[in-house]
Amino acid sequence: MKRSAVFFVLATLGGTALAADPAKIDWSKIPVVNVPLFYPGQSSYEWLLSDAHKGAAKEMRRGDACTFCHDEPDGEKDIGNNLVAGKRLEPTPPKGKNGHIDLKVQAAFDDRNAYLRFQWKTNGKPTGDYPAYRFDGKEWKPYGGPRLNADVRAGKQPAIYEDRVSVMIDDGKVPNFAKQGCWLTCHDGERDMPKQATKEEVAANPLLSAIKKADVRKYLPASRNDPTDWKSGKSVEEISKIKAEGGFLDLIQWRSHRTNPVGGVDDGYVLDWRHFDAGKNHFASNLDEKKQPKFMFDAAKYGTKAMSADDFGKKENFLIKGSNAVPFDPNAGWKEGDILPQYVLSAADASGSAADNKGSGVWKDGMWTVVMVRPLGLTNADDKALKAGGVYNVGFAVHDDNITSRGHHVGWVRSLGLGAKADIEAVKLP
Ligand code: HEC
Repeated sequence: MKRSAVFFVLATLGGTALAADPAKIDWSKIPVVNVPLFYPGQSSYEWLLSDAHKGAAKEMRRGDACTFCHDEPDGEKDIGNNLVAGKRLEPTPPKGKNGHIDLKVQAAFDDRNAYLRFQWKTNGKPTGDYPAYRFDGKEWKPYGGPRLNADVRAGKQPAIYEDRVSVMIDDGKVPNFAKQGCWLTCHDGERDMPKQATKEEVAANPLLSAIKKADVRKYLPASRNDPTDWKSGKSVEEISKIKAEGGFLDLIQWRSHRTNPVGGVDDGYVLDWRHFDAGKNHFASNLDEKKQPKFMFDAAKYGTKAMSADDFGKKENFLIKGSNAVPFDPNAGWKEGDILPQYVLSAADASGSAADNKGSGVWKDGMWTVVMVRPLGLTNADDKALKAGGVYNVGFAVHDDNITSRGHHVGWVRSLGLGAKADIEAVKLP
């Protein structure tokens, strides 16, 4: 069902050149590049520039590559194992989490699209679950959360979160990304990072209130007057100018709950914040202004109108418009413990630049296999246009085992070439 959804979307795009059906690409003919990823803990940009980073501050400031020093074979394993165990840079070690993973990456392209295929072994059994809303007899309250959340760590909420694989793309216009990769975007003050910004601090911040944001998320050094201080945002005009000149990163994310069931992959960008692209995502909030769900399950299709706590990890709980979702009926006899999804999904509602990317993932024998489909030559103001012959700097991240924010695995930056020399060379499809 997931694969045919993707093919359907591609087949209806129209146009002249034909796109490959990603399910029919013979991946056994495409080289596999192993990209080791490790758990980075709180190794923020600010920490990397500090004396605690063993005499590397000067080199960091100069823009030297991480791998200039971190060049040991298997070095990723050592860093990840130390950090995940809480030896350094991790105040709240997530129990049982793996310190590193091997991400297998393959790439191909044709006249229409680039195709990126990822495989990794998961730490446990992924479900596509996502935090939801639970009826307590009176109100619908948040249920479940990612493993770094204080309530989850304290055992007050179950650990529930979707798996993800993400790619950041730079076309050479983001200073130092080719050498220092994702760490340029990882700062003190962000969620689950040291000195996490309070609501009051965010509300008092001129840039974040101008762009109507309630927290601090990934940002690039160029968006701040002092790159190591999230509070020192440049003006919206200055940031628009940097964006128009291409000084932003594209961020593509495949999500096991919010996009996979409808054949989607997110499209976003990072500059002053981690924004979604213009338009509409493949998922939308399932809560209205009165804090009531907008949709419930169609009992004729799902079996019941809601799920229960026991269903997590056992039964798929994707609420999909036009498939198993019907408008919420407040008088349907709701009982304490009834649970409804936090998001409602729709391929048909996704639109604009936010809906450019498609893809699908299948979990089998302990491993996710995900294919992302990215159109070439996009002309939107929030996209990097990929083209044949182009070489890009890319950073990968995998979120696995019910975790979000910094609880991912990341790696040193790599280059991706479309029919051009690079660490990962996308093969032209016949
Ligand atoms: C000038 C050399 C140099 C550069 C450049 C450098 N590092 Fe380091 N880094 C070190 C040294 C030395 C250590 C300490 C290793 C140890 O104690 O085992 C370290 C430690 C770390 C650690 C902590 C690992 C641990 O086990 O304590 C992380 C994470 C890290 N570096 C990430 C990075 C990243 C990301 C970059 C690029 C943005 C980078 N480093 C660039 C030299 C460097």
